[in-house]
Amino acid sequence: MAQNPKRIFQKTKIPKPKRLTFELPKGTVDLEIGAGTGDFALAYAKQNPSRTLLSVEHTHERFRKFKNKWNQNKPDNLIPIHANAIGFTVHYLPPECLSRIFILYPNPYPKPSQQNNRWPNMPFMEFLIERLEPKGTLVLATNLDDYADLAKQRYIHTWNLDLVEEKALNQTSKELPLTLFEKKYRERGETCFHLTFQKK
Ligand SMILES: C[S@@+](CC[C@H](N)C(=O)[O-])C[C@H]1O[C@@H](n2cnc3c(N)ncnc32)[C@H](O)[C@@H]1O
Repeated sequence: MAQNPKRIFQKTKIPKPKRLTFELPKGTVDLEIGAGTGDFALAYAKQNPSRTLLSVEHTHERFRKFKNKWNQNKPDNLIPIHANAIGFTVHYLPPECLSRIFILYPNPYPKPSQQNNRWPNMPFMEFLIERLEPKGTLVLATNLDDYADLAKQRYIHTWNLDLVEEKALNQTSKELPLTLFEKKYRERGETCFHLTFQKK
């Protein structure tokens, strides 16, 4: 945890995603970072027809699976985006354009040498949270208790958000669909944490 999240975020050094055409949709817009194979995204879009979800995944294989599922009925309130989420956010999202941000089961980066790669430790967080409208929320889910502790520490004390909801797996919010990783963790009987933070 002893990383310095106040390292400076150098947005001018972030490359623009290649071969991406994107226009911000009108209305209420949410962002999912690290969509994987899109299970959460597809179910969330169906449950929330009045909102649009931008769902970003950077690996080819996972995005291909996501896009194949999306192609089955092409919900127009779900925009699958094949890009690095940092580059996408920097180059395409204006301040205060997002209502909700989801970071669901991010890569764990468990080693001490990898701590700077955990989302709550990244200087990019300040830029990302600026994209959130006032009272907008950020949901982080993880099966790792030290990642959940880190998230609480950073989002409250470094990034100045309020923790408005905290749930463990067996109480998991009925409103939120499961991700592929959450299904796997639940089958193994692991505890999962859902933390909801709100911008002031
Ligand atoms: C552990 S997986 C979880 C996937 C999905 N959220 C789930 O719970 O089933 C984390 C995902 O985040 C994606 N990811 C990590 N860093 C990313 C980035 N900078 N931009 C876009 N996707 C990213 C990875 O490729 C991976 O698919």
